[in-house]
Amino acid sequence: MSGTMEQETPFDGGGPVIVAIDGPAGSGKSTLARRLAAHFGLGLLDTGLLYRAVAKKLLDAGIDPADEDAATAAAERLAPADLDPACLRGEATGNGASVVAAMPAVRTALLPVQRRLGAEGRGSVVVGRDIGTAIFPDTPCKFFITASIEARARRRHKELLNRGETPIYARVLDELKARDRRDEARSVAPMRVAEDAVVVDTSELDIDQAFGTIRSLMDERLRMSA
Ligand code: DC
Repeated sequence: MSGTMEQETPFDGGGPVIVAIDGPAGSGKSTLARRLAAHFGLGLLDTGLLYRAVAKKLLDAGIDPADEDAATAAAERLAPADLDPACLRGEATGNGASVVAAMPAVRTALLPVQRRLGAEGRGSVVVGRDIGTAIFPDTPCKFFITASIEARARRRHKELLNRGETPIYARVLDELKARDRRDEARSVAPMRVAEDAVVVDTSELDIDQAFGTIRSLMDERLRMSA
């Protein structure tokens, strides 16, 4: 399938390429980012893992994620070994992550790490909430992936069921709403659409359709910025 072929041409001779993929939880952005990274031969940086790793450190130590001093210290000491996705997927870790992500000092500590990791090698597809607005505001490839809250809750519910958990749909929906509110309302780098980002609504798209849409938009953007 052409979607899995690595495409070399748009990046030949240039500096690192950053593809910013922002959007709310359950929008499909992580799956899309993985496919884009494979297709374009770029690295993949899921910046949510950094916030999750900070929250996990606190939760494992029995510390409330709302403890700003402890969260900042954990963010400043984050090591690559802390970023194993398999250990960071739980809902409690995700909710704790959205609490620590609202802390300016935590975001300040994690900003240079994201810029360094994202720019390694040929560049990366960087996934998060503020990539196009705060971390890599100058990249010409910015996408904001979204979907209706119901579509996102249905996906998250199914994902949890597939993981062998016993989620309650109404609770999944409420937690997503609460997380959206926290991510949008925080004072530093809130989740919002960058002015020059392309918004892709995946409510009615399956993953192949969403991938096809973004791949052709990216080809267009890269041609324009060449
Ligand atoms: O994408 P995720 O669910 O793994 O993110 C976990 C939390 O971290 C989420 O509530 C928002 C926050 N986050 C953020 O504020 N900025 C980012 N660049 C990435 C994630």
